[in-house]
Amino acid sequence: PGLDVVAKSKGKLYFGSATDNGELNDAPYAAILSDNKEFGQITPGNSMKWDATERSRGVFTFSGGDVIANFAAANGQLLRGHTCVWHSQLPGWVTAGNFNAADLTSIIETHTTTVVDHYKGQVYAWDVVNEAFNDDGTFRTSVFYTTLGSSYIATAFHAARAADPDAKLYINDYNIDGLGAKSTAMTNLVAQLKADGVPVDGIGIQGHLIVGAVPNNLQANFEQFAALGVEIAITELDIRLTLPVTPEKLAQQKADYQKVIAACAAVPACVGVTIWDWTDKYSWIPSVFSGQGAALPWDETFVKKPAYDGIVAGF
Ligand code: XIL
Repeated sequence: PGLDVVAKSKGKLYFGSATDNGELNDAPYAAILSDNKEFGQITPGNSMKWDATERSRGVFTFSGGDVIANFAAANGQLLRGHTCVWHSQLPGWVTAGNFNAADLTSIIETHTTTVVDHYKGQVYAWDVVNEAFNDDGTFRTSVFYTTLGSSYIATAFHAARAADPDAKLYINDYNIDGLGAKSTAMTNLVAQLKADGVPVDGIGIQGHLIVGAVPNNLQANFEQFAALGVEIAITELDIRLTLPVTPEKLAQQKADYQKVIAACAAVPACVGVTIWDWTDKYSWIPSVFSGQGAALPWDETFVKKPAYDGIVAGF
């Protein structure tokens, strides 16, 4: 029946996919992405990031993001906004670190306010802050942290709430799928933010995982997040393998997708799952993790892999 139909039948809000602007020129690709029985939600993989929206200070460009937002609207799909404040894909004028605390706070407020306001009413949820932590649970030493300490996180959330009071505001990270130091740090941060009155609504679990190495305590971790009174979502799921593909690896990948989906299905606070694109043709994995790939449920020729059935079975 389609992955979004299956997800909704189990009480979830959506099953979705990331996409990117260039890919939409691939007509067979766009045809499948527009099928809202498969994908009830989309996320722009790049075109709402800081380097795409405010490459020069105060000069905002929304052309790429608007194409994705319009695609979602035309196809009756929810939109996740990604992302306001992140250390990566950040223009040089920000990373250069030439700003004092007051100026950088103002820059974060202006960026977040302007981008969130532009898409006001069109976005289900925003990844307001992305990848604030190191894997050991300490704060990442980005230009934001170095200049402002962790206060930049509250600054961004307050600006986002003021700009679009109806959008769910998420903090998003990777390697917080299972229990561990980084998940504990996320739990502690969100508890503190809520105690401080910072408007955080959700924790985004990216879910960039490895075949045969998916943590066993996903559900316990999701429940720990949910106990904070926030919703959670799996926001960037892919499960990569070391190439070449074999039937054995694809069978393990199917089991791994099922395991992740089942953990979301078991926790009511988990509202939806987004895969980080749907076809291996456009996966980011091979370009970043040398020798790895085939991380998504459809292959490069748009044929469904065993992982697809794993997702269905997981719900
Ligand atoms: C990736 C995109 O998919 C690539 O096209 C780009 O070159 C790099 O960024 N975590 C995130 C995403 O939050 O924004 C990243 O997306 C993947 C890791």
